[in-house]
Amino acid sequence: MPVHIVDHPIAQDALLTLRDARTPPDEFRREAARAALVIAAEALRDLPHAAATVETPLGSATGRRVDAEIVVVPVLRAGLGMLEAVLTLFPRARVGHIGLQRDERTAVASRYYARLPRPLHRSRVLLVDPMLATGGSAVAGLELLREAGATDVRLVCVVAAPEGIALVSSRFPDVAIYTPAIDRELNDRKFIVPGLGDFGDRLYGTE
Ligand code: PRP
Ligand code: URA
Repeated sequence: MPVHIVDHPIAQDALLTLRDARTPPDEFRREAARAALVIAAEALRDLPHAAATVETPLGSATGRRVDAEIVVVPVLRAGLGMLEAVLTLFPRARVGHIGLQRDERTAVASRYYARLPRPLHRSRVLLVDPMLATGGSAVAGLELLREAGATDVRLVCVVAAPEGIALVSSRFPDVAIYTPAIDRELNDRKFIVPGLGDFGDRLYGTE
């Protein structure tokens, strides 16, 4: 199964603060960005790069430049909490948006917005959605990206449930999932347990 557990201490430290029910929205936003920075860096670790030379004030220095196009696609709303971190890592990234909302009763996700940059087939695409619960939202996002021509897609999460991983892996076996945690289970409302609650609500102080 292409699941990468991001065991970096900074990601784990940020995740514990996100899990803490006492963490207020301002701190939650800060810690979401801190976790996202490390998780996204892992998803970009194997980016192609090419040798390049610059002139320092004292002479020539050779190094490497990223030789890739990156597209980041946050799933609204919660994915917005991870967007700026990816843009910090790679400011030239193009950005798409996908709006998905789970029905509170059935937990089935429906789409209310999509705007993607094109073309996508030459880009490394990061689909960023912090919670992978049933996997319905991730699969809807991945279907959209595939229809739009994306070939190299990675899913960047903060907490994943076994059910969501199983669904994404069965529908998109070539999509790697990056997450610092795989939690125990879903409850009867399809929330991740222990999880961290509703990510979007905690990010923006809504209920
Ligand atoms: C949350 C989360 C994911 C989705 C995961 O979004 O951000 O997109 O649920 O659940 P799933 O794997 O069962 O589909 P939500 O629909 O609550 O919208 P929000 O981000 O606007 O709060
Ligand atoms: N969405 C969330 O924000 N949290 C969950 O636990 C499941 C879906």
